[in-house]
Amino acid sequence: MKFFIDTANLFEIKEAYDLGVLDGVTTNPSLMAKEGIAGKDKIMAHYKAICHIVDNNVSAEVIATDFDGIIKEGKELAKIDDKIVVKVPMIKDGVKAIKKFTSEGIRTNCTLVFSPGQALLTAKAGASYVSPFIGRLDDISQDGLDLIAQIRLIYDNYGYGTEILAASIRHTIHLIKCAEIGADVATCPLHVIMALLKHPLTDSGLEKFLADHKRLMDKRIRKYDLRITKLRF
Ligand code: E4P
Repeated sequence: MKFFIDTANLFEIKEAYDLGVLDGVTTNPSLMAKEGIAGKDKIMAHYKAICHIVDNNVSAEVIATDFDGIIKEGKELAKIDDKIVVKVPMIKDGVKAIKKFTSEGIRTNCTLVFSPGQALLTAKAGASYVSPFIGRLDDISQDGLDLIAQIRLIYDNYGYGTEILAASIRHTIHLIKCAEIGADVATCPLHVIMALLKHPLTDSGLEKFLADHKRLMDKRIRKYDLRITKLRF
């Protein structure tokens, strides 16, 4: 399973990258706004900075919602770096644009996907990634994980190459369930990736190992001190 980090914060991206398990980054206009990145030049420079940190797969979302606008913006984003994946919303012109980008070898991520039908269209248009939003479905009392399972089944039935990128992940249970279902990628905030490290038995186990080691070392040092003392007197 690939791990992407869902943020536009350069420090968080670097921290996840330094852990050695990061395969990519997803951003969206809200995450860019959170970092105060506004204006075309600053947005382009920020994507470039992200591409300098990670090895591949940087999703950069278009703002345009009409076909020509999406194509123009997507091509500009794709020119920033080969690592860029153009993120396009699940709307009519978005699907058309994904088809065109795919025919021109530009990788795409179809975002704001909330139903199996939308995921089917995404695959038929040839997107590299489909982004079903688990957490936002949970927020309206629908099980977001069910959608991941439905998409997995549909894609496997027909051998679609589009990778399932589970998005809007809120906690480690989402992530683990996605891995069980067989999502190809999970994008999550840094705290979810870091939370995978944690288990109370790991903490208490390590504490005991270190305490036992220290006790033995102290005993050895005391014995050594005693021998030195005997030699002297
Ligand atoms: C990523 O591609 C999505 O934009 C993101 O996961 C949405 O997450 P949210 O529902 O927490 O805003």
